Amino acid sequence: MIKKGIILAGGMGTRMSPLTKAVNKHLLPIYDKPLIFYPLSILMLAKIREILIIVNKGQLNQYKKIIPNGDNLGIKITFKEQKKPVGLPDAFILGEKFIGKSNTALILGDNFFYGQNLTKILNQCCKLTSGAKVLLHKVSKPELYGVAKVNSKNKIISIKEKPKKYISDLAITGLYFFDNKVIKYSKSLKPSKRGEIEITDLLNKYKSKKKLTADYIGRGGAWLDTGSIEDFYKTSTFVSAIENRQGFKIACLEEISLLNNWINKKHILKAIKFYGNCSYSNYLKKLISK
Ligand code: DAU
Repeated sequence: MIKKGIILAGGMGTRMSPLTKAVNKHLLPIYDKPLIFYPLSILMLAKIREILIIVNKGQLNQYKKIIPNGDNLGIKITFKEQKKPVGLPDAFILGEKFIGKSNTALILGDNFFYGQNLTKILNQCCKLTSGAKVLLHKVSKPELYGVAKVNSKNKIISIKEKPKKYISDLAITGLYFFDNKVIKYSKSLKPSKRGEIEITDLLNKYKSKKKLTADYIGRGGAWLDTGSIEDFYKTSTFVSAIENRQGFKIACLEEISLLNNWINKKHILKAIKFYGNCSYSNYLKKLISK
């Protein structure tokens, strides 16, 4: 079982400047909560309680104000600074000590997942004992993502980062599951033409050893990424529509912990005090008044 997870939430957020000049992109709002709550909620739904958050150098204090160490959520959060955004597999080099001898999940800090079967899929993926697993989702603009081509048996036959020429419309989402070899493989990667070590090169290492498998987020699930200001607004509108229609919150961290039996009413009361008088606190009050 995978019990550890990394959230890669560094980077300069330059595409979103001036918004990101003073505040890290992952702390900007997606509707009623900071972006970072959403990937964190995904790891928690996968029942992962040991989490490393990799953040941009110099911005650690901003994160600690909102997510100090996980005690309030019944989980253990540690932080590590990344000096420069040198590529996604750097997460496993920086996270070597955190990962130790375990297997690990990685979620990109700007990825948003939602859907009815999601928890089931996550729990299935966490059963990985060897190799690597990716989650694929059909998109209309595959050229913006890492893309996988699969054969009639749903086996991955090729992988490319942001292909200019069409190979498939199956994007590789920013949620990955790896065995412990990921540290060794990441260290052996060479920077690509754009000067970064690439997640697709890492995945290709697993593929060449026939150790790469895929699962799918079907059309009933949503995968959005928040790479640009436009995407931020679109994702916020999506969250607002669902939350206001149903009365449930997406990515309420305390609610997930409570349902997982990691915290109790006392923790929720503490959280209400911490957040103050706001709609998030009102939602928490309702949770414990039932
Ligand atoms: O969103 C899924 C896509 O994410 C995948 O389909 C691609 O294969 C993968 O390369 C990645 O593409 P992006 O162009 O979206 O990656 P980006 O450079 O925007 O980084 C994604 C997140 O990771 C973002 O929140 C910033 C953070 N990051 C990125 C790098 C390169 C870091 O914290 N450190 C880094 O070194």
